[in-house]
Amino acid sequence: MRDYHVAVIPGDGIGQEVTPEGVRVLDRVGEITGAYKMHYEYFPWGCEYYLKTGKMMAEDGLDILRPFDVIYFGAVGFPSVPDHISLRGLRLPICQGFDQYVCLRPSYLLPGIQSPLAGKKPGDIDFYVVRENTEGEYTGAGGRAHRGLPIELAIETSVFTRTGVERVIRYAYQLAQKRRKKLINATKSNAQQHSLTFWDEIFTEVGKAFPTVQTERVLIDALSARFVLHPESLDVVVGSNLFGDILTDLGGAICGSLGLAASGNINPERAYPSMFEPVHGSAPDIFGKGIANPIGMIWCGAMMLEFLGEKPAGELIMKAIEAVTGEGKALTPDLGGKAKTSQVADEVIAKALALAK
Ligand code: IPM
Ligand code: MG
Repeated sequence: MRDYHVAVIPGDGIGQEVTPEGVRVLDRVGEITGAYKMHYEYFPWGCEYYLKTGKMMAEDGLDILRPFDVIYFGAVGFPSVPDHISLRGLRLPICQGFDQYVCLRPSYLLPGIQSPLAGKKPGDIDFYVVRENTEGEYTGAGGRAHRGLPIELAIETSVFTRTGVERVIRYAYQLAQKRRKKLINATKSNAQQHSLTFWDEIFTEVGKAFPTVQTERVLIDALSARFVLHPESLDVVVGSNLFGDILTDLGGAICGSLGLAASGNINPERAYPSMFEPVHGSAPDIFGKGIANPIGMIWCGAMMLEFLGEKPAGELIMKAIEAVTGEGKALTPDLGGKAKTSQVADEVIAKALALAK
């Protein structure tokens, strides 16, 4: 029985509803497999905390989080606080401060789930987007001047460093090498003539060490169309922070619901804790109704277990999720069902128990 120390940040909106369900599944699967025990510490950070304290997280938040093995994160953002404040006060400082330079996002069409694309069967869509997660368009370099005057201006500069680009691209090659050995470089170097030509050059350089990986350089606009028209042709896609952001909403949508999409903000060197969070965000429109889909959060738990080296337990959760969606009885309204958040988690636990026997 291995022990792990997990910092839990439910955050805002439905993050508060899906996080306890994810925790429940992690605990039960720990008991079922006898492989691990999680020790949680909860942090009430987010928009409510901001309204009380003027900060999204404790002043020394990163120091507090540093000793943990991993961070399990619900969602951030609520209409009560401007989005750029909530994001830049909590999630970005963690991703950037802990050098979580890989944002790993699977797109997998689960059994029983209807893709909005015609004729897709389970597994037809099965790829990863590796999103650069610490720089690029999210660096925050820039400013505004002449506020309120007719000559007002805003500048937001993308920042690409050799180290930053090399390491995320290397991670993507390594992942492709373990999978179907096909890697797409999402780029736009026809228009972004400085930053993304640099990115493309590094993509080619890093690739020299991976001769068995077949590569393609695809412009982001054409790639977006390909996500819709031929998603089965995708295995691993690597892109900048903003490109990865956009592509992964698309990836979630073609797999049936954003409520299913999971994500890991990873520091592969394990110099700092990594953070696992669903893609869906706080969804204020459905918050408080108990109908949020917990599968994205539960899937994050599976990714977290795999990252911790608990592969069989992570796989058990994935099999249980597939059994639940395949059966189609306990589905939340985003998937056309009537189940409540907690009922879906109950079903995942029941399936995990049955599968482990
Ligand atoms: C995501 C989200 C965030 C992002 C938002 C909440 C700022 O869309 O995790 O994909 O753009 O990174
Ligand atoms: Mg996004």
